[in-house]
Amino acid sequence: MTTRKKYKVFSIVGARPNFVKVAPVSKALAETGEFEEIIVHTGQHYDYLLSEAFFHELEIPAPKYNLEIGSGRQAWQLGKMIAGIDAVIEKECPDAIVVFGDTNSTAAGAIAGAKNNIPVAHVEAGLREFNKSIPEEVNKLLTTASTDLYFCPTPTGVSNLAKIGITENVHLVGDVGIDLIFNNLEIIEAIKLGGDLKLPPNLIAGQYFFVTCHRAANTEDPEMLQEILSTLEALPLPYILPLHPRTKRAIETFGLPMPTGAIAPTGFFETQALIRNARMVITDSGGIIKEAYFHKTPGIIIDKQTEWVETVEEGWSVVAGPDKKRILEAVEAKSGGDFNSPPELPHSNCLGDGTASQKIVSIISHYLHSNKQHNHHA
Ligand code: UD1
Repeated sequence: MTTRKKYKVFSIVGARPNFVKVAPVSKALAETGEFEEIIVHTGQHYDYLLSEAFFHELEIPAPKYNLEIGSGRQAWQLGKMIAGIDAVIEKECPDAIVVFGDTNSTAAGAIAGAKNNIPVAHVEAGLREFNKSIPEEVNKLLTTASTDLYFCPTPTGVSNLAKIGITENVHLVGDVGIDLIFNNLEIIEAIKLGGDLKLPPNLIAGQYFFVTCHRAANTEDPEMLQEILSTLEALPLPYILPLHPRTKRAIETFGLPMPTGAIAPTGFFETQALIRNARMVITDSGGIIKEAYFHKTPGIIIDKQTEWVETVEEGWSVVAGPDKKRILEAVEAKSGGDFNSPPELPHSNCLGDGTASQKIVSIISHYLHSNKQHNHHA
């Protein structure tokens, strides 16, 4: 009996949101028995709580390579990552490269793949914020330009790609981050505030805000950051803010008072439990907005736009911008004047049904079988 050689697939990761997305895909790749997955970590995130903790908690296979690029200017970091990934491609000759989301590590993996004529699969393809001053938007554009297989989480992703003439190898599969929550709901629901979670005593389920803030636009300008932080102190309920090291450093550098609700960065399941139990979330993170939608927790977006437009269309989130007056007005509007009543809004589960990763893996397998890549870049 002959055994067919496994496809060698690179999963390129580097930052926290990449880890959350690779976890379910990695599991789905392993389940087929068809793939040898090699995880390449760029080293974009290196703090234990932003990186290694997620590998342990989400049982992600250890990276075979860690390029240890670390922090730095955007273009410098991207360039170093491309060169590092290129060297590993040369050594391992993968059959395909999978990249996730819109971080610098995502764009670097996609560019290195395209330059080596290796099929690139992009998980979370087609999303746009239509503002090139956002570092993630540049990554989205660079990644789209270098991708062969597009895995869109939402219909908006598909239509954004169609608008620029990309209709082939585009698949609407749902969101892999939602897979992870779906498949671990029991763990998340079992986490008790005040029990497993060592939180301030004033946090009562359904009676607090869950807040995150780390986008470049919100942390690089002292006035903007001060406006956001002072808004938090004016909220009508207590809040909790797991602090990204970038935001912590900005607060210290600008000499701003440390927010009263600040805590250390939280793990994935803990974060989900905190979102699920919150009355509302206030965030500039796309990941948190879609997770809040899943948990039916209303979200206020402290950014000027969002790529998760479906959550806004269904009324679960609202774009308020980093503006005190608009944030407080949005909080008031979303509370319905009564913080005790749960939100009553339609909810279509438009971000997927927990099977995105399996769909992705089966499409990659089919694509590699049919050798479509030979026609690519012809
Ligand atoms: C990156 C992603 C962003 C994602 C976020 C999640 C890009 C352009 N941005 O942003 O989309 O939402 O990750 O966390 O890829 N730092 C540490 N320890 C670390 C890593 C970073 O202290 O382990 C600090 C450094 O001061 C660094 C700063 O955070 O300069 C920014 O790090 P960087 O990876 O450039 O971007 P993030 O803000 O983390």
